[in-house]
Amino acid sequence: MSGAAQGTERHVGKMKAELGGIVVLDFGGQYTQLIARRVREQKVFSAILPCTVGLDEIRKLEPAGIILSGGPSSVYDKDAPKCDPDVLAMGTPVLGICYGMQWVAKNLGGKVEPAERREYGPAQLNVQSGESHLFKNFPANLKIWNSHGDHVHALPEGFHATGKTSNAIASAEDPKRKIYTVQFHPEVKHTERGTEILRNFLFTVCKAEPKWNGAAFIEESVKAVAEKVGTHHAICGLSGGVDSTVAAVLVHRAMGERLTNLFVNTGLLRKDEFEHTLEMYRERLGLRVVGVDATDRFLEKLQGVSDPEKKRKIIGNEFIEVFAAEAEKLQKEAGGDIKWLVQGTLYPDVIESVSVKGPSAVIKSHHNVGGLPEKMPFGLIEPLRDLFKDEVRSIGKDLGLPDEILVKHPFPGPGLAVRLLGNITRPDLEILREADAIVVDEIRRAGLYEKVWQAFAVLLPVRSVGVMGDGRTYGLTIAVRVVQSEDAMTADWVRLPGEVLERMSTRIVNEVPGVTRVVYDISSKPPSTIEWE
Ligand code: XMP
Repeated sequence: MSGAAQGTERHVGKMKAELGGIVVLDFGGQYTQLIARRVREQKVFSAILPCTVGLDEIRKLEPAGIILSGGPSSVYDKDAPKCDPDVLAMGTPVLGICYGMQWVAKNLGGKVEPAERREYGPAQLNVQSGESHLFKNFPANLKIWNSHGDHVHALPEGFHATGKTSNAIASAEDPKRKIYTVQFHPEVKHTERGTEILRNFLFTVCKAEPKWNGAAFIEESVKAVAEKVGTHHAICGLSGGVDSTVAAVLVHRAMGERLTNLFVNTGLLRKDEFEHTLEMYRERLGLRVVGVDATDRFLEKLQGVSDPEKKRKIIGNEFIEVFAAEAEKLQKEAGGDIKWLVQGTLYPDVIESVSVKGPSAVIKSHHNVGGLPEKMPFGLIEPLRDLFKDEVRSIGKDLGLPDEILVKHPFPGPGLAVRLLGNITRPDLEILREADAIVVDEIRRAGLYEKVWQAFAVLLPVRSVGVMGDGRTYGLTIAVRVVQSEDAMTADWVRLPGEVLERMSTRIVNEVPGVTRVVYDISSKPPSTIEWE
């Protein structure tokens, strides 16, 4: 089996902690991932599957309950997404949310209509039945969050309304068949008592066990990896970031010295980062790591290149070349026994394209070391492919990873190349490294490192006039970028205290020869991006 094919193999049903959780069937809703996360916050495993998945796939997970997500379609659209109707006859409790409710209603003989008034945003829910498991002991009125055009006009037989808004039936259920539906979004924070509604579904209706936790995950993953690799060897590309590190430490527990890690110095890392990270991997985490200093190769290939996209392509390709060459060397040393490649792929990467198109949709395999699996005949081990980012951090903590890894700011794969505008030269890289170290140092000293998303320096190929001592200077410009963000999709510049900006500016101009001017980037994303290139 090729590496790429293995990468798309789902690990469904393998781990005990993952059985008895919740299956979220995705109708393409914008909140599907959020539903899955809310369930996991209650220590119940959740797996997102495309709505078109077969019942067999669902049964493999032995779910305690099924949640039908929202979705952008109308149930009357020609190609409206559908589940297998037998999902409603499995005897497993079902919670239909938004489109999920409409699909249930239409499927069981109810009526769905375009609403006279579309409901978007906040609304008032009047709880009709305090007896409902979902709303037990709730007050009569709740603020909820809506986002729908259609609504259920007539309920299927066996159902009764449990809540209404001024416009529509907001929730309904058939407790005999254990089918519950809500037109609004309990997973969204703006819905009052939303978490309680989900908890009531999980624990009262589904009787799920809150057993999804870090310790169980680690124990079972280590066992699963050990079984999978047998007596063979594996390699892993480390980036210095949290995902690849957690993946490596986990796999190291399963196979010890038979896992060899590669950490490549592209020459585009930050000040002392290569040496420092290598030492941490080896001394503190006990990993077997080969450090590959490929600085010359990268900088040679980048000579005279100023176009950002070209830079990124060159670096990506070169990385694969270097990695493949090193892997070949290791393969010889191991007598051809390296059969596996470890990657820190996360759940959002896996489900990104598991859409309403169904299981036939290609699952995008996201690679920390992009393109490698196509190039090399290794099977993939992706121990984090069922986890969200915050879960990876928490597992990292359980594994004893140092804080410096767990709370590290994101750093782009192409490294300083996208923060040094224009042509890349060694002296300019030195200037950027020194300035960047000062920015980060001052952010730490101000106690802000863990409060901001990223803080770094950018070197602009812009010279301006300055005076230093008695002399006139004509030096380069450093832009300081400090941003706040939730997920890097949007970001805002951080209103740093004047004293912090002042210290950064003074130190950079005094301590970094060749810089005469420091500016602060006050652009948000969008329309700007976080990185400059
Ligand atoms: P932008 O600049 O697009 O960046 O606003 C969003 C986030 O992604 C990081 N970034 C990258 N990370 N490889 C990565 O692993 C890359 O090529 C890359 N480019 C940008 C960036 O630092 C920010 O956190």
